[in-house]
Amino acid sequence: MSHDVSAVFRPGLLAGQVALITGGGTGIGFGIAELFAELGAHVVLASRKPEHLESAVTALTARGFAASSVPVDVRDPERVQAMVAEVDARHGRLDILVNNAAGNFYAPSESLSPNAWRSVVEIDLFGTFHCSQAALPVMKRGGGGRIISISMTLHYRAWPLMAHAVSAKSGIDALTRTLAVEWAPYGVRVNAIAPGPIPTEGVRKAFTPPASSGVPDVFAAAEQRMAAYAQQAIPLKRWGTPRDIANAAAFLASPAGDWVTGAIFVVDGGEWLAPRPMAGM
Ligand code: COA
Repeated sequence: MSHDVSAVFRPGLLAGQVALITGGGTGIGFGIAELFAELGAHVVLASRKPEHLESAVTALTARGFAASSVPVDVRDPERVQAMVAEVDARHGRLDILVNNAAGNFYAPSESLSPNAWRSVVEIDLFGTFHCSQAALPVMKRGGGGRIISISMTLHYRAWPLMAHAVSAKSGIDALTRTLAVEWAPYGVRVNAIAPGPIPTEGVRKAFTPPASSGVPDVFAAAEQRMAAYAQQAIPLKRWGTPRDIANAAAFLASPAGDWVTGAIFVVDGGEWLAPRPMAGM
């Protein structure tokens, strides 16, 4: 079977559009930025980490794509407003917002500090809200837009040691459905993608439990037997890639996604439905 996306998405599909991608310098965010740029969009990568932004923008512009960056901490509503104002000043439009920035780590709930809880919930949930709200006026002025937030599937069941992240991502799902209805009159489609296991550097870091927790390092164990893990635990029998998520995002951003709003689009090879969850490895 062919996995050539050019057979699906026509060249220039997103030409003339501006896409703002938080956490766009690495991992899934960069994968989405790369495909959107290949399809002709100008991609603006936003992150707290300048070192991530510089190398990502260089990698894209070296291939002849239109890419730039803007620094932001999505937890800070004023900096988020400034980010959108800068995109608006530079481009005069904002067509697509991808709320991808996230923080996560394994930690027991009973000893999670208030600041640790706050950090993850603020980055994931508050950040998604701040960015969506800030983008709205520019999208409204342009006659519509697409907001795509990155959720997860772990909150569909219990996921011990990630109470902060599953709570935040549950909130993102609820926010997605509600904003979809509130903002439909403006032509703004609001959807989320729930990725399954994709072994990016950020995920690897987040899923490595602290030695003191006594929890087996499931991610490292799984990685050592990647192929076997995929065969046993993922119905479609392979790990995901950032491109798998980017393909779903491109569909939602394209005219083919015109009648889709409020959807939580699970892209996980069937992993969460399978009877053997990752934590049981
Ligand atoms: N276990 C328990 N607590 C942790 C922790 C861990 N592994 N990592 C961070 N924390 C706590 C810190 O101790 C701190 O709480 P404290 O002030 O009570 O000590 C709090 O979380 C904030 O940590 P800090 O490093 O100051 O936060 P930050 O805002 O700079 O970073 C994080 C945010 C914590 C989410 C960080 O992991 C991050 O930036 N991750 C980005 C990459 C990522 O997680 N990607 C996810 C891909 S799925």
